[in-house]
Amino acid sequence: MRYWLIVPAAGVGRRFGEQTPKQYVPLHGRTLLEWSLAPFRADSRCTGIVVALAAGDPHWPAIARKLGNVTVAPGGAERSHSVRNGLAALQGQVAASDWVLVHDAARPCLPAADLNRLVERLDSHPVGGLLAAPAADTLKATGEDLQVVRTVDRSGLWRALTPQMFRYGRLCEALDAALASGRLPTDESQAIEWLGDHPQIVAGSAANLKVTSPEDLLVAAALLQETRA
Ligand code: CTP
Ligand code: MG
Repeated sequence: MRYWLIVPAAGVGRRFGEQTPKQYVPLHGRTLLEWSLAPFRADSRCTGIVVALAAGDPHWPAIARKLGNVTVAPGGAERSHSVRNGLAALQGQVAASDWVLVHDAARPCLPAADLNRLVERLDSHPVGGLLAAPAADTLKATGEDLQVVRTVDRSGLWRALTPQMFRYGRLCEALDAALASGRLPTDESQAIEWLGDHPQIVAGSAANLKVTSPEDLLVAAALLQETRA
Protein backbone atom coordinates (compact mmCIF):
# COMPACT_ATOMS: atom_id res chain seq x y z
CA MET A 1 0.00 0.00 0.00
CA ARG A 2 1.21 3.51 -0.78
CA TYR A 3 -0.29 6.98 -0.71
CA TRP A 4 0.48 10.61 -1.52
CA LEU A 5 0.08 13.49 0.92
CA ILE A 6 -1.30 16.98 0.29
CA VAL A 7 -0.92 19.57 3.05
CA PRO A 8 -2.79 22.86 2.59
CA ALA A 9 -0.63 25.45 4.38
CA ALA A 10 -1.62 28.67 2.62
CA GLY A 11 -3.95 30.14 5.25
CA VAL A 12 -3.29 33.39 7.10
CA GLY A 13 -4.61 32.26 10.48
CA ARG A 14 -7.06 35.12 10.95
CA ARG A 15 -8.64 33.60 14.09
CA PHE A 16 -5.22 32.87 15.56
CA GLY A 17 -4.54 36.58 15.29
CA GLU A 18 -0.73 36.66 15.13
CA GLN A 19 1.49 38.31 12.52
CA THR A 20 3.03 34.92 11.72
CA PRO A 21 0.56 32.43 10.20
CA LYS A 22 -0.14 29.74 12.81
CA GLN A 23 1.46 26.93 10.78
CA TYR A 24 4.81 28.64 11.31
CA VAL A 25 4.65 29.38 15.03
CA PRO A 26 7.35 27.60 17.06
CA LEU A 27 6.39 24.62 19.17
CA HIS A 28 9.01 22.60 21.09
CA GLY A 29 11.79 23.76 18.79
CA ARG A 30 10.08 23.21 15.43
CA THR A 31 7.34 24.96 13.51
CA LEU A 32 3.80 23.66 13.82
CA LEU A 33 3.91 22.67 10.13
CA GLU A 34 6.95 20.45 10.73
CA TRP A 35 5.07 18.65 13.53
CA SER A 36 2.09 18.20 11.19
CA LEU A 37 4.33 16.63 8.53
CA ALA A 38 6.32 14.43 10.94
CA PRO A 39 4.09 11.30 11.10
CA PHE A 40 4.00 11.12 7.30
CA ARG A 41 7.72 11.62 6.88
CA ALA A 42 8.18 8.68 9.23
CA ASP A 43 5.75 6.48 7.24
CA SER A 44 7.30 4.44 4.41
CA ARG A 45 3.88 4.17 2.70
CA CYS A 46 3.94 7.95 2.07
CA THR A 47 5.35 8.17 -1.46
CA GLY A 48 5.40 11.94 -1.95
CA ILE A 49 4.40 15.14 -0.15
CA VAL A 50 2.95 18.33 -1.64
CA VAL A 51 2.59 21.47 0.48
CA ALA A 52 0.36 24.31 -0.82
CA LEU A 53 1.79 27.69 0.17
CA ALA A 54 0.76 31.34 0.02
CA ALA A 55 2.45 33.40 -2.70
CA GLY A 56 5.79 34.76 -1.52
CA ASP A 57 5.65 32.79 1.76
CA PRO A 58 8.82 33.97 3.56
CA HIS A 59 8.82 31.17 6.16
CA TRP A 60 8.94 28.11 3.91
CA PRO A 61 12.49 28.23 2.42
CA ALA A 62 14.21 27.62 5.78
CA ILE A 63 11.97 24.62 6.43
CA ALA A 64 12.40 23.30 2.88
CA ARG A 65 16.18 23.25 3.38
CA LYS A 66 15.70 21.07 6.46
CA LEU A 67 13.11 18.72 4.97
CA GLY A 68 14.19 18.31 1.33
CA ASN A 69 12.08 16.28 -1.07
CA VAL A 70 8.78 18.14 -0.62
CA THR A 71 6.92 19.51 -3.66
CA VAL A 72 5.40 22.98 -3.45
CA ALA A 73 2.11 24.11 -5.01
CA PRO A 74 0.51 27.56 -5.05
CA GLY A 75 -2.12 28.21 -2.40
CA GLY A 76 -5.59 29.35 -3.43
CA ALA A 77 -8.28 31.69 -2.14
CA GLU A 78 -9.89 29.01 0.06
CA ARG A 79 -8.65 25.75 1.55
CA SER A 80 -10.36 23.73 -1.18
CA HIS A 81 -8.50 25.70 -3.89
CA SER A 82 -5.19 25.06 -2.13
CA VAL A 83 -5.95 21.32 -1.99
CA ARG A 84 -6.94 21.32 -5.66
CA ASN A 85 -3.65 23.02 -6.58
CA GLY A 86 -1.78 20.45 -4.52
CA LEU A 87 -3.49 17.65 -6.42
CA ALA A 88 -2.63 19.34 -9.73
CA ALA A 89 1.05 19.32 -8.74
CA LEU A 90 0.93 15.50 -8.68
CA GLN A 91 -0.55 15.17 -12.15
CA GLY A 92 1.51 12.88 -14.35
CA GLN A 93 3.08 10.92 -11.52
CA VAL A 94 -0.08 9.45 -9.98
CA ALA A 95 -2.73 7.02 -11.18
CA ALA A 96 -6.43 7.92 -10.79
CA SER A 97 -6.81 5.03 -8.36
CA ASP A 98 -3.88 6.08 -6.13
CA TRP A 99 -4.74 7.06 -2.58
CA VAL A 100 -4.25 10.67 -1.53
CA LEU A 101 -4.29 11.81 2.08
CA VAL A 102 -5.05 15.46 2.86
CA HIS A 103 -3.88 16.78 6.24
CA ASP A 104 -4.19 20.31 7.66
CA ALA A 105 -0.90 22.11 8.31
CA ALA A 106 -2.43 23.22 11.60
CA ARG A 107 -2.84 19.70 13.09
CA PRO A 108 0.49 19.00 14.80
CA CYS A 109 -0.63 16.21 17.15
CA LEU A 110 -1.80 13.42 14.81
CA PRO A 111 -0.99 10.14 16.59
CA ALA A 112 0.86 7.63 14.39
CA ALA A 113 -1.66 5.01 15.55
CA ASP A 114 -4.54 7.07 14.08
CA LEU A 115 -2.75 7.45 10.76
CA ASN A 116 -2.20 3.70 10.74
CA ARG A 117 -5.82 2.92 11.60
CA LEU A 118 -7.09 5.21 8.83
CA VAL A 119 -4.84 3.76 6.15
CA GLU A 120 -5.36 0.13 7.15
CA ARG A 121 -9.13 0.47 7.52
CA LEU A 122 -9.63 2.25 4.19
CA ASP A 123 -7.10 0.57 1.91
CA SER A 124 -9.74 -1.87 0.65
CA HIS A 125 -12.65 0.63 0.86
CA PRO A 126 -14.33 1.64 -2.42
CA VAL A 127 -14.64 5.36 -1.52
CA GLY A 128 -12.22 6.27 1.26
CA GLY A 129 -12.98 8.37 4.30
CA LEU A 130 -11.68 10.39 7.19
CA LEU A 131 -10.64 10.46 10.80
CA ALA A 132 -13.36 11.90 13.01
CA ALA A 133 -14.13 12.22 16.71
CA PRO A 134 -17.57 11.72 18.23
CA ALA A 135 -19.33 14.94 19.28
CA ALA A 136 -18.83 15.05 23.06
CA ASP A 137 -20.74 18.13 24.25
CA THR A 138 -24.49 18.55 24.36
CA LEU A 139 -25.41 20.40 21.19
CA LYS A 140 -27.82 23.36 21.05
CA ALA A 141 -29.49 24.84 18.00
CA THR A 142 -30.18 28.56 18.35
CA GLY A 143 -32.43 31.08 16.72
CA GLU A 144 -32.17 34.84 16.79
CA ASP A 145 -30.32 36.44 19.75
CA LEU A 146 -28.74 33.09 20.60
CA GLN A 147 -31.92 31.77 22.15
CA VAL A 148 -31.93 28.00 22.34
CA VAL A 149 -34.49 26.51 19.98
CA ARG A 150 -33.71 22.89 20.78
CA THR A 151 -31.13 20.38 21.89
CA VAL A 152 -29.73 18.38 19.00
CA ASP A 153 -29.33 14.64 19.47
CA ARG A 154 -25.58 14.13 19.30
CA SER A 155 -25.70 10.41 18.70
CA GLY A 156 -24.39 9.79 15.21
CA LEU A 157 -22.71 13.21 15.01
CA TRP A 158 -18.97 13.38 14.40
CA ARG A 159 -16.35 16.13 14.20
CA ALA A 160 -14.42 15.78 10.95
CA LEU A 161 -10.64 15.72 11.42
CA THR A 162 -7.78 15.13 9.01
CA PRO A 163 -6.17 13.22 7.40
CA GLN A 164 -8.91 12.45 4.90
CA MET A 165 -8.18 9.73 2.36
CA PHE A 166 -9.64 9.45 -1.14
CA ARG A 167 -8.68 8.18 -4.59
CA TYR A 168 -6.78 10.78 -6.62
CA GLY A 169 -9.10 10.78 -9.63
CA ARG A 170 -12.33 10.87 -7.65
CA LEU A 171 -11.07 13.66 -5.38
CA CYS A 172 -10.03 15.81 -8.35
CA GLU A 173 -13.42 15.18 -9.92
CA ALA A 174 -15.24 16.04 -6.68
CA LEU A 175 -13.36 19.29 -6.08
CA ASP A 176 -13.68 20.34 -9.73
CA ALA A 177 -17.43 19.74 -9.68
CA ALA A 178 -17.85 21.66 -6.42
CA LEU A 179 -15.73 24.64 -7.44
CA ALA A 180 -17.29 24.79 -10.92
CA SER A 181 -20.73 25.07 -9.33
CA GLY A 182 -19.53 27.80 -6.98
CA ARG A 183 -19.77 25.65 -3.85
CA LEU A 184 -16.90 25.61 -1.38
CA PRO A 185 -16.52 22.32 0.47
CA THR A 186 -14.99 22.79 3.93
CA ASP A 187 -13.30 19.42 3.72
CA GLU A 188 -12.57 16.78 1.08
CA SER A 189 -15.30 14.52 2.39
CA GLN A 190 -17.99 17.12 1.69
CA ALA A 191 -16.95 17.38 -1.94
CA ILE A 192 -17.06 13.58 -2.25
CA GLU A 193 -20.47 13.52 -0.50
CA TRP A 194 -21.78 16.00 -3.09
CA LEU A 195 -21.00 13.38 -5.75
CA GLY A 196 -23.27 10.99 -3.88
CA ASP A 197 -20.51 8.81 -2.40
CA HIS A 198 -20.46 7.82 1.27
CA PRO A 199 -17.07 8.31 2.92
CA GLN A 200 -16.20 6.02 5.82
CA ILE A 201 -15.66 7.48 9.29
CA VAL A 202 -12.67 6.07 11.15
CA ALA A 203 -12.69 6.94 14.85
CA GLY A 204 -9.73 9.15 15.75
CA SER A 205 -8.35 10.75 18.87
CA ALA A 206 -9.52 14.21 19.95
CA ALA A 207 -5.83 14.90 20.57
CA ASN A 208 -5.58 15.47 16.81
CA LEU A 209 -6.83 19.01 17.27
CA LYS A 210 -6.62 21.83 14.74
CA VAL A 211 -4.84 24.88 16.10
CA THR A 212 -7.35 27.65 15.48
CA SER A 213 -6.97 30.09 18.38
CA PRO A 214 -3.99 30.81 20.68
CA GLU A 215 -5.31 28.59 23.49
CA ASP A 216 -5.24 25.61 21.13
CA LEU A 217 -1.49 26.08 20.90
CA LEU A 218 -1.18 25.59 24.66
CA VAL A 219 -3.09 22.33 24.42
CA ALA A 220 -1.00 21.18 21.44
CA ALA A 221 2.23 22.01 23.29
CA ALA A 222 1.11 19.97 26.30
CA LEU A 223 0.05 17.01 24.13
CA LEU A 224 3.34 16.97 22.23
CA GLN A 225 5.25 17.19 25.50
CA GLU A 226 3.36 14.09 26.62
CA THR A 227 4.23 12.12 23.45
CA ARG A 228 7.85 13.15 23.58
CA ALA A 229 8.21 12.18 27.23
N1 CTP B 1 -5.58 26.83 4.12
C1 CTP B 1 -5.03 26.89 2.83
N2 CTP B 1 -5.47 27.83 1.95
C2 CTP B 1 -6.42 28.71 2.29
C3 CTP B 1 -7.00 28.67 3.59
C4 CTP B 1 -6.55 27.69 4.48
O1 CTP B 1 -4.14 26.10 2.51
N3 CTP B 1 -6.81 29.63 1.40
C5 CTP B 1 -5.08 25.82 5.07
C6 CTP B 1 -4.55 26.41 6.36
O2 CTP B 1 -3.20 26.84 6.20
C7 CTP B 1 -4.71 25.26 7.34
C8 CTP B 1 -5.91 24.49 6.79
O3 CTP B 1 -6.14 24.97 5.47
O4 CTP B 1 -3.60 24.39 7.34
C9 CTP B 1 -7.15 24.63 7.67
O5 CTP B 1 -7.62 25.97 7.62
P1 CTP B 1 -7.85 26.93 8.87
O6 CTP B 1 -7.64 26.20 10.13
O7 CTP B 1 -9.13 27.65 8.64
O8 CTP B 1 -6.61 27.95 8.72
P2 CTP B 1 -6.64 29.48 8.30
O9 CTP B 1 -7.55 29.66 7.14
O10 CTP B 1 -5.22 29.90 8.15
O11 CTP B 1 -7.24 30.15 9.62
P3 CTP B 1 -8.45 31.24 9.68
O12 CTP B 1 -9.64 30.56 9.06
O13 CTP B 1 -8.59 31.52 11.15
O14 CTP B 1 -7.96 32.43 8.90
MG1 MG C 1 -9.68 29.23 7.35
